[in-house]
Order: sequence, then structure tokens, then C-alpha cells
Amino acid sequence: MKRKRGHNNVRNPPHIEEKIVLATGNPGKAQEIRNIFSILAPRWDLVTPAELGIEIPYPPEQEDYAANASAKALAATEVSGLPGLAEDSGLEVDALDGRPGVHSARYGSDDADRIQKLLKELASTARRFRTARFRCLAVLVLPNGKSWTGEGIWEGVITTEPRGEHGFGYDPVFFDPLLGKTAAEMTSEEKNARSHRTRAFADLLGKINTDV
Ligand code: IMP
Repeated sequence: MKRKRGHNNVRNPPHIEEKIVLATGNPGKAQEIRNIFSILAPRWDLVTPAELGIEIPYPPEQEDYAANASAKALAATEVSGLPGLAEDSGLEVDALDGRPGVHSARYGSDDADRIQKLLKELASTARRFRTARFRCLAVLVLPNGKSWTGEGIWEGVITTEPRGEHGFGYDPVFFDPLLGKTAAEMTSEEKNARSHRTRAFADLLGKINTDV
């Protein structure tokens, strides 16, 4: 079937010329997402709230990744009048019954503290029980309220000590057995080729592309 072009913008995915607000205040995450989009959707023009000179009043975190991502994207859309793109992510450790999960960012005071706390909690856990995954939920909201959601996971193992200098968050203790490196030992290309965030955005873009 032939697709209509041009006059059905209201429900369409964003125009490639149109700016899309990337709802994050974390410069590391923004850079990572830009790198991901340079491969997955190079013609999308992602701008941060800081670049637009606007502030997004992010709502308080909830117990659910999708609800958090939607709320961030919606807030960005409401303030800017542009499509809003957001993600929410966390680390789920099996030996901790899925913690810190959706609370990953608040598990400790900073990245180093979070890592030390995690290693301490797992100190008596054998390697084969240190399985974990990163999970990411990505949401795009249009000013007319239409939205799409994508999900991605990345399976790995928690190391016994931090390794590597790249990335952010729990990257130094998240080991990918297929590559034989922690996420912090990977180049950004290596991380982005396998990460939960790339998978969530690929899932999201696939849904947008097939929503005709
Ligand atoms: P959010 O900003 O609420 O989505 O917080 C997600 C938190 O999960 C981050 O602050 C990190 O602690 C952790 N996290 C999510 N994705 C990654 C990643 O790719 N590498 C390392 N840590 C991550």
C-alpha cells in the first residue's frame, strides 16, 4: 500500500528537519544518546534543554521505568512545544532481587559511592551468581500527545572490582562476557553496539517506522 506524504503530519513521527528535545540533564547520557542516534537515525536533530535555554520541571521519580521516561518526555514537550524524547534506565542485580533497579541513580551519593555500595552488598556472592542486566525504557512524545515506547536490556555480570575509565554510572563493574570487558573498558562504539540504551532506541524507532 502507498503511504501518504506531506499532509498527515499530525500523527506522523517527527519530521527529520524538526528539532527533538532530549529530556536529560546528564551531559554524559546526552552525548551517549547523540552517538547512538548518529548511527540509528542520523537525520534526527536532538537538542538538549540547556541548548534551547529552557528548564524542564522533571516530575518526581516513580516505581516504574516507563512511567518515568513518559513523564520526562511529556514535560519536555509541554515546555518546548517540540517532540520530547526521554529514557529511564537502571541496573538489576539478580542476587539483590533486581535492586537497585529503577532506584539506580539514588542508590548512593555519587557513582563511586554507588559502586562501592554494590560491591559491598555482593562481597560474599560467587561469580556465577553475580548476574545482572541494564534495562532501558525509551519514550517519544509528540506535542499532540501521541507517543511510542521502546525497551532494551543488556545482560552481564558484576565484577569484584571496578575496571576501565570510560562511560558513567555502573560501567566499571558491569562485565559483558561476550566481549570480555567491563562497559567502562569499551570504546563508545563497542558499548553503543550492545547497550540497553541502543536496544531501547532501536526498538522505539522500529515501532515508529512501522506505525503507518
Ligand atoms: P536515570 O537517569 O534515572 O535513568 O538513572 C539511571 C541510573 O542507572 C544512572 O544514574 C546509572 O547509575 C545507571 N545506569 C543506567 N544506564 C547506565 C549505563 O549505561 N552505564 C552505567 N550506569 C547506568
